[in-house]
Amino acid sequence: MIKKKFGIIGKPLSHSLSPELHNFWFKKHKLSAHYSFIEVEINEIEGIVQKIRNNELQGINVTVPYKQAVIPFLDLLVDDAKETLSVNTISLDKEGRLIGNNTDVYGLEQGFINNLNDQNLEQNKVLILGAGGVTPSVVYALSKKGIKQIYLSNRTIKKAENIKKIFPFIKIVKWENIELEAQNVNIIINATSLGLKNGSDFTQEFKITRPNLIYYDIIYNPEETKMIKRFKEKGAQTFNGLEMFIYQGQKSFSLWNKINPELSKEIKQILISKIK
Ligand code: ATR
Repeated sequence: MIKKKFGIIGKPLSHSLSPELHNFWFKKHKLSAHYSFIEVEINEIEGIVQKIRNNELQGINVTVPYKQAVIPFLDLLVDDAKETLSVNTISLDKEGRLIGNNTDVYGLEQGFINNLNDQNLEQNKVLILGAGGVTPSVVYALSKKGIKQIYLSNRTIKKAENIKKIFPFIKIVKWENIELEAQNVNIIINATSLGLKNGSDFTQEFKITRPNLIYYDIIYNPEETKMIKRFKEKGAQTFNGLEMFIYQGQKSFSLWNKINPELSKEIKQILISKIK
């Protein structure tokens, strides 16, 4: 049987657990397939995408910093990719078209937003920190649930303004004002790379004035960022990005293989053990 090949493109990739996740499910479902890291420079993206067209690769995930950069090489964006102009899953359809999909939105819905209290969901005020590759998916996932009071801040304001072009209802906050703005919201989401293992971190203090604050970190490696620890100590409800990661992977897997893999305790434990 021909071994199907999948992978993830991005740079850097060392923090990604996608190979662990997909190879676990391939084994579980006895599929002859393998998933690997494909670390590429921006000028190599086109060549990699062509490999899907030629059937040398059966599918790829896309991570930072290429979620927008892949779009010109695709034939069609579908579903949430169309709404967010952000692609994390690529496959070839029956007509031979390269399809860009987005499973981050589903990951956010299942892994984070569905944990929020349904009552007054629309009343939430959210501050999103960071305007990188995942941010359009965060804004869209929140807005799909009717959450429209969204404040966005990014060190480089231009990138926040570009996201506002897709979602005009968001309000932009200057990076130097994030601590102040954090006191006016009840949900803070870290969508920056600050706090990633071996990377730089927030220098801000973030005083908490609200008793029911929710802090969500899209980072899952480390399991508890400095910010999660700090907010937890102050009594906030905190989440890391592991659930989102597993759910986005589940949807990518099911798009490629037409099998919905189980989100078992076993796979979660394996991923956590890899983080440590
Ligand atoms: P990309 O920006 O290439 O899509 P990303 O990992 O998705 O990559 O995004 C990194 C995010 O972390 C960006 O919002 C980035 O801010 P800039 O747009 O200003 O670069 C943010 N980030 C990274 N290092 C940062 C730092 N030291 N201080 C503040 N924000 C930082």
